[in-house]
Amino acid sequence: MVCFRLAPVPGSGLLLLCLVLGAVSSYALELNLTDSENATCLYAKWQMNFTIRYETTDKHNKTVTISDLGPATYNGSSCGDDQNGPKIAVQFGSGFSWIVNFTEEKSFYSIDSISFSYNTNDNTTFPDAKEKGVFIVSDHVAFRVPLNDIFRCNSLLTLGKNDVVQHYWDVHVQAFVQNGTVSTKEFLCDKDKTLTTVLPIVPTTVPSPTTTPSPKEKPEIGSYSVVNSNGTCLLATMGLQLNITHDKVASVININPNTTNFTGSCHPQTALLRLSSSSIKYLDFVFAVKNENRFYLKEVNVSMYLVNGSVFSIANNNLSYWDAPLGSSYMCNKEQTVSVSGAFQINTFDLRVQPFNVMEGKYSTAQECSLDDDTILIPIIVGAGLSGLIIVIVIAYLIGRRKSYAGYQTL
Ligand SMILES: *[C@@H]1O[C@H](CO)[C@@H](O)[C@H](O)[C@H]1NC(C)=O
Ligand SMILES: *[C@@H]1O[C@H](CO)[C@@H](O)[C@H](O)[C@H]1NC(C)=O
Ligand SMILES: *[C@@H]1O[C@H](CO)[C@@H](O)[C@H](O)[C@H]1NC(C)=O
Ligand SMILES: *[C@@H]1O[C@H](CO)[C@@H](O)[C@H](O)[C@H]1NC(C)=O
Ligand SMILES: *[C@@H]1O[C@H](CO)[C@@H](O)[C@H](O)[C@H]1NC(C)=O
Ligand SMILES: *[C@@H]1O[C@H](CO)[C@@H](O)[C@H](O)[C@H]1NC(C)=O
Ligand SMILES: *[C@@H]1O[C@H](CO)[C@@H](O)[C@H](O)[C@H]1NC(C)=O
Ligand SMILES: *[C@@H]1O[C@H](CO)[C@@H](O)[C@H](O)[C@H]1NC(C)=O
Ligand SMILES: *[C@@H]1O[C@H](CO)[C@@H](O)[C@H](O)[C@H]1NC(C)=O
Ligand SMILES: *[C@@H]1O[C@H](CO)[C@@H](O)[C@H](O)[C@H]1NC(C)=O
Repeated sequence: MVCFRLAPVPGSGLLLLCLVLGAVSSYALELNLTDSENATCLYAKWQMNFTIRYETTDKHNKTVTISDLGPATYNGSSCGDDQNGPKIAVQFGSGFSWIVNFTEEKSFYSIDSISFSYNTNDNTTFPDAKEKGVFIVSDHVAFRVPLNDIFRCNSLLTLGKNDVVQHYWDVHVQAFVQNGTVSTKEFLCDKDKTLTTVLPIVPTTVPSPTTTPSPKEKPEIGSYSVVNSNGTCLLATMGLQLNITHDKVASVININPNTTNFTGSCHPQTALLRLSSSSIKYLDFVFAVKNENRFYLKEVNVSMYLVNGSVFSIANNNLSYWDAPLGSSYMCNKEQTVSVSGAFQINTFDLRVQPFNVMEGKYSTAQECSLDDDTILIPIIVGAGLSGLIIVIVIAYLIGRRKSYAGYQTL
């Protein structure tokens, strides 16, 4: 267990940090850089570890994880000046160095680049490395954060691939701190944005079952399709809202079609539409044919990433939704709920789907859901009211019946 601190940080953050460290093997770092006037110019707190692959003298590849190599130094970290932007430089173990630099432009600051170097001459960490020397990996991150906001990402961020994989989590960083006061306004990474609602970030505060998420706006309508060798074979247009219930607290997540990928497959008896995004590993809609002349939504299979790094998965292959004749499409403009399990529901908006027999990439005639039917009823009622005749006849008939009934009673 190790704790790091360069400059005094107010509060009891240090104790908490050490406790966290005991549980997870990683570098948990906290840095409060001050300028010549002792005012905070840069604040950062984060956890990281690294996986390095190297070739050994006997031509094998070995993998080492660099997670906790004792005390770190911050030589070279600076608030920056007229020529250079601020940067955080960390040294640890024998010959490891990690540097991130920042730039400022108008109303934003950017996390510019992250560079990590290691020395394979260190025989404890890299026994029998074939190539001895200093290796440097540098990634241009160019991540923009509004000025005066603190960037936060509790979710796992992964950088690099192949030889060096870098993991970062519980990241809080603000460069170009104004007036020496670290902001309380957080700018969240995408993974946190979609997932903060799924689970409470701080497990120590027990969520009250009475807190309900703020009423969500309608999700944006997305257009999805699947193409095979014969052209477009599946079409779906819909707004999707996921409702996950966890510990009696429902979390509602709107799917943003702009950041959602889709794929799928088409077969004579089944068809699949698969959506995925940074927070959704997969969301599968499986359609099937029944009685040789109708189709329906038979299965939903979902797997999503949660904040704490675990995965939420649920599947139900015994559903019966969106039922319509083959050769037509199913349409439902009203909000409809697909109940996959007690803990997982999908609310759909302005839905239209055709998983089979798509001709020329276009929807065939639509079979509307019963929920939409009252929109058709309204003109019928209005028409009847206008004619008046039917109502008059009905009333006359009713009065007549009532009279004769009353007549029998007096007898
Ligand atoms: C490095 O961090 C990742 C992400 O938190 C974690 O899954 C992995 O177990 C860590 N490795 C070690 C050796 O602690
Ligand atoms: C900054 O703080 C240090 C001690 O923390 C003090 O010695 C120094 O005088 C302070 N400098 C200014 C400019 O306030
Ligand atoms: C070792 O990794 C390199 C890539 O870094 C790869 O080209 C090579 O095939 C790997 N060797 C073995 C034995 O797996
Ligand atoms: C960091 O700086 C201190 C003195 O400020 C020095 O003693 C130490 O050797 C330096 N460490 C590295 C890794 O450069
Ligand atoms: C940040 O560091 C990278 C290399 O790690 C360098 O290429 C880049 O120019 C630096 N940016 C600034 C603004 O200093
Ligand atoms: C910093 O201080 C100046 C002068 O007191 C003030 O005008 C400005 O709004 C402050 N900025 C922030 C981000 O608090
Ligand atoms: C989410 O699911 C819960 C539990 O089934 C339900 O009470 C709540 O009304 C649902 N919310 C929405 C927006 O569908
Ligand atoms: C999706 O993109 C469209 C057009 O680029 C834009 O108008 C809309 O606001 C975006 N929606 C979201 C939720 O980002
Ligand atoms: C993450 O949270 C979920 C829900 O509370 C829990 O079931 C799971 O065990 C947690 N996973 C880890 C790795 O803590
Ligand atoms: C859900 O999808 C996963 C991954 O594709 C698969 O292993 C699993 O069998 C599926 N579950 C059902 C019920 O189809």
